[in-house]
Amino acid sequence: EEKRIIDNFGRVHNYLRISLTDRCNLRCFYCMPEEGIQLMEKEHIMSLEEIIEISRKFRDLCVDTIRLTGGEPLVRKNFGYLVRELAKLGVTLKITTNGILLDKYLDLFREIGLKKINLSLDTLDKARSVFISKRDYFDRIMKNMELALEMEMQVKLNIVLIKGVNDKEINDFIELTKYKDLTAKFIEFMPFKGNKWDWSKGVGEQEILDIVSAKYDGVQELKNPKHSTSKNFRVKGHKGKFAIVSTITNPFCAECNRIRLTADGKIKNCLFSNSETDLLGPLRGGEQIEPVILNAIKTKKYSRDGMDVKMDAAHYENNRSMISIGG
Ligand code: GTP
Ligand code: 5AD
Ligand code: SF4
Repeated sequence: EEKRIIDNFGRVHNYLRISLTDRCNLRCFYCMPEEGIQLMEKEHIMSLEEIIEISRKFRDLCVDTIRLTGGEPLVRKNFGYLVRELAKLGVTLKITTNGILLDKYLDLFREIGLKKINLSLDTLDKARSVFISKRDYFDRIMKNMELALEMEMQVKLNIVLIKGVNDKEINDFIELTKYKDLTAKFIEFMPFKGNKWDWSKGVGEQEILDIVSAKYDGVQELKNPKHSTSKNFRVKGHKGKFAIVSTITNPFCAECNRIRLTADGKIKNCLFSNSETDLLGPLRGGEQIEPVILNAIKTKKYSRDGMDVKMDAAHYENNRSMISIGG
């Protein structure tokens, strides 16, 4: 019998998200506090060899999917070496990136079979992109999106919807799916330390569907892959799809199969988890890390780390900022 990572609710965790760095070349306001974050010290960050060793251990515990996140994963030094080594583990590799450096890695991704690229792109308007991210990389990101599509990568756009910022663009993204084979994934704004969350700024699943249905006939709900965090749809006749991640209004925790590792080597058994388990310390101390992983999942709560019914500031303000979790 193979060992698997199973929580107290019988959920098998076969999907690991690794944050490679807490650094980013953008400054999106929903992701980090205005004043920035205290960056991790280098000696506290997992080395590439440590990431590979830990990933192998997770693979041995039946993890079959690893998503690389950040910060921005592509700013990690020697990222190319790392992803090549991880590809040798035989798991499905995916990445979530802001796309700025994507052109430098697409050939490598093709070579190692990394096809699933989630691209943070909250707006199709250049000035608004600068407003949201406080940096001027919009043209480069759009160019890299096209490049990725030309290379037949499976591209999903991550769109965090915020009222008064980009909520009027929902149907512009739907228009984009008419001719482009990508998924426009709308995300409900979520609370993390210092991001001034207030659900009155968020746009919920039903509201999104109403806005799309008011303009388009034939919105079809698609079959969702197992353990999907998003519901998937297609406007009839459109080449691409759209999707909704409804963490706030309609959480999908019952099927959760995800475990997370921060750049400083802490296990988070939920996106909203306040109680982290140090994995890097034991690894460096020469201890067995398998029991640490198996114990960490046993403290996982059923939904949103205990915020089952509502988001609670006393709880999420004790979490990290999104930039140091990786989503
Ligand atoms: P796939 O692997 O393609 O399903 O991607 P994903 O949507 O799960 O991951 P991605 O990194 O693209 O993140 C998109 C949004 O989903 C972000 O806002 C994430 O924080 C959120 N998200 C990802 N995983 C989870 C999860 O396990 N729980 C919750 N509540 N949200 C998640
Ligand atoms: N709420 C929802 N999604 C967020 N992301 C970052 N911050 C938030 C937030 N506060 C998303 C970004 C990124 C993904 C990893 O997480 O869209 O693509
Ligand atoms: Fe899993 Fe936590 Fe996300 Fe729910 S909120 S799906 S338990 S990671």
